Amino acid sequence: MSVGLDGVIAAETALSHVDGEAGTLILKGLPLDAAATLDFEGVCALLWDGLLDTQDDLRARLAAARQQAFDRVARMLPAADGLTTVEGLRLMLSGLADETDLDPPVQVTGAVPVFVAALDRHRRGLQPIEPNPDLGQSADFLAMLAGETADPAIVVGLDTYLVTVADHGLNASTFAARVVASTRAGMVSSVVAALCALKGPLHGGAPGPVLDMLDAIGGEDRIDTWLDETLKQGDRLMGFGHRVYKVRDPRADVLKRAVARLKGDRIAFAEKVEQAAIAHLARHKPGRRLETNVEFYTALLLDRIGLDRSLFTPVFAIGRVAGWAAHVMEQEATGRLIRPQSRYVGPTPQQAA
Ligand code: ACO
Repeated sequence: MSVGLDGVIAAETALSHVDGEAGTLILKGLPLDAAATLDFEGVCALLWDGLLDTQDDLRARLAAARQQAFDRVARMLPAADGLTTVEGLRLMLSGLADETDLDPPVQVTGAVPVFVAALDRHRRGLQPIEPNPDLGQSADFLAMLAGETADPAIVVGLDTYLVTVADHGLNASTFAARVVASTRAGMVSSVVAALCALKGPLHGGAPGPVLDMLDAIGGEDRIDTWLDETLKQGDRLMGFGHRVYKVRDPRADVLKRAVARLKGDRIAFAEKVEQAAIAHLARHKPGRRLETNVEFYTALLLDRIGLDRSLFTPVFAIGRVAGWAAHVMEQEATGRLIRPQSRYVGPTPQQAA
């Protein structure tokens, strides 16, 4: 038996391929470096090609989906009081119907940034801002969040992030989406399941804690002591280690370059922490091959974009929903019910009697 389904092939996909030994990621035949030059609508078009009935007017249709989601926001926001932003997103997505007059992937993908922006403004005591159909998804998200048009360089930085994380093989959240899709429960139900899996700190919940770690280390003189003590206590270093990558996660480099283009001021310090962390991990966990994962430079990039760390996991969902939606369509088109078996290790009736 493979604990954690390590190495088990549980689906065939034409969407993305992760080579954990070579440290490469391919999205629909495009190497990550090439895909990362697309904007968010571009990666949706790439991933949804051949799965969605029509790709026509995708930008306008996503804008229409944002407007339709916004029309529900005022009604739903009060119910999110007291929840974190990602919990509020889970609540608001659950309120969408699986059957819709919009294409289901378009509906859910357009809704996520609207809900996240509204929830964040609500947390800050501010009114939600209507989407602008003239903007692309990234620019509109930033405008709905801040109430003003974002610097184009910042929009490109966000696009790079969203595209880089849009799809990544059969990660935990995508697998959750495919399991639910395999029961024919529908797009929204599948995406809600995926979001629930993404939320955990071992998956999409890590980038906020990466910044907490950099803050806790504080200065260069404390790097080695802090890392050593943390590992001695048995704690994990956020932003390091990966189930599939046994070398550096290629997304880390794409995101690091994006932070550098935006002249992020913490890069030099982060690089020192990264180098020291890899060395300490090799010493404390020999043979485990723990390297930098996507979340380390995600934290720096999203921070440089000006996002509060409570938004990091929800913003991950804004990008990854493109991949979830594609996997749901692929599963619905080709897949059987996903129903593995467990090995019983409990008592026999005779033992229990
Ligand atoms: N810091 C310290 N030790 C670690 C780390 C880490 N970041 N990652 C793994 N280890 C250790 C484990 O403690 C374990 O040690 P042991 O064999 O002595 O018990 C060994 O390495 C193997 O760990 P597993 O949990 O079996 O490895 P798995 O493949 O399940 O873990 C995971 C992958 C969950 C990402 C892990 O590396 C981790 O917890 N990293 C920190 C959290 C993080 O960065 N999450 C984001 C992942 S990227 C993404 O999902 C988008």
